[in-house]
Amino acid sequence: MKNQIEKIKNTAQKEILATKTLKDIENLRIKYLGKKGELTAILKQIGKFSDNEKPIIGQLVNEVRDFINYSIEAGIKEIKDSILEQKLNKEKIDVTLPGIYRSIGHKHPLNIVLDDVKEIFIGMGFDIVEGPEIENDYYNFEALNMPKYHPARDTQDTFYISENILLRTQTSCVQIRTMEKTQPPIRMISPGRVYRSDTIDATHSPLFNQIEGLVVDNGVTFSDLKGTLETFIQALYGLDSVVRFRPHHFPYTEPSAEVDVQCFGCHGKGCRLCKNEGWIEILGCGMVHPTVLKNCGIDSEIYSGFAFGVGLERIAMRRYNIDDMRLFYENDVRFLNQF
Ligand code: DAH
Repeated sequence: MKNQIEKIKNTAQKEILATKTLKDIENLRIKYLGKKGELTAILKQIGKFSDNEKPIIGQLVNEVRDFINYSIEAGIKEIKDSILEQKLNKEKIDVTLPGIYRSIGHKHPLNIVLDDVKEIFIGMGFDIVEGPEIENDYYNFEALNMPKYHPARDTQDTFYISENILLRTQTSCVQIRTMEKTQPPIRMISPGRVYRSDTIDATHSPLFNQIEGLVVDNGVTFSDLKGTLETFIQALYGLDSVVRFRPHHFPYTEPSAEVDVQCFGCHGKGCRLCKNEGWIEILGCGMVHPTVLKNCGIDSEIYSGFAFGVGLERIAMRRYNIDDMRLFYENDVRFLNQF
C-alpha cells in the first residue's frame, strides 16, 4: 500500500510538471484530490487495514495530498507568470513616441471682458445679481417709469411673447427686482443678455449683453456716480483715459447722463474709429428717479441712488479694436483663437 501511495505521488508530480495550461492542471486536481480521485479511493479502503496500519496509512495519504496540493498551486502560479510574461513581451511600449495633445478650450472674448468688469466692481464692494431674460412688461418698462404708450418704449423694439410677457430689452429690470427684495444699502451689478428686434449689422444684434449697475443708500449723490464710473473706466481702459459726462434723458433717472471716453485712436482729434467725433459713448447713467424708488417701496425722502447701464459688446469692441460685433456670435475659431 505504501508503494502504491508513493507511486501516486511520483506520477502526480511528473504530470503536474508537464502541464502547460490552467485547464489541464485543474483536471489533475480532480484526478488526484477530487471526490472520485485516486487518493480518496485509498482512504475509502482504509477499513481493510489493521488498527496499527490505519494511522500510518492515513498520515501518509494526508502528506501526499498536501504535497500534491502544494505542487498544483505552484504549477498554477508558474503558468500564470508565463502567460503574463508572454503578454508583456508582445506589448512593447515605445516611450519615445510623441504624446497626443488635446486642444483645450478657452474663454470667449466677451467673457474675458465681463470677468474683468465683475472684478473691478467686486473690488468696489458690489454684489453680482441675476435676473430673468423673459420678463413682465411691468419690470421691463412700467416700474421703470415707462408706462404704456410712453415714447421711450419705441427706442427699444421689443420681442413680445404675449401682451404682458416679453424678452427683456435691457437689464434695468433687475434694478426693480433687487429694490423690491432688498432694503438699502444696495450696491450691485447685473450682467446678462438682452433682446431687441433689430436687424443684424456691424453694430446691432437682436441679442446682446448689458451690465446694469445700481447703488442706493443714504445720501448718495451725483459725485458718487461720477467717481464710481470714472474709477471703473480707468480700471478698464487705463489711468490715462479721459472721460466726459454729457446730459441725456432716461425715464428712470433724473438727472441722466451719457458717458463718453476720448477716442483711443485719435485722442480726441477725430478718426474712423470714433466716426470723427473724437469721443466714444460707452454707457448711460443717472440718479434713480424718485418714482422708481417709490415703485419699489423705498422712501425717496430718506434714500437716493444712482444707476448705469453698459453694453458689454461695445466695451469689448473698444478694447480689442473690433469693428464688427457679429464676430462675437459666429464662433469662428480663427477669430476666437486670437484671445
Ligand atoms: N437701459 C439703458 C439702455 O438700455 C441703459 C441705462 C441707462 C441703464 C441709464 C441705466 C441708466 O440704469 O441709469 O440703453
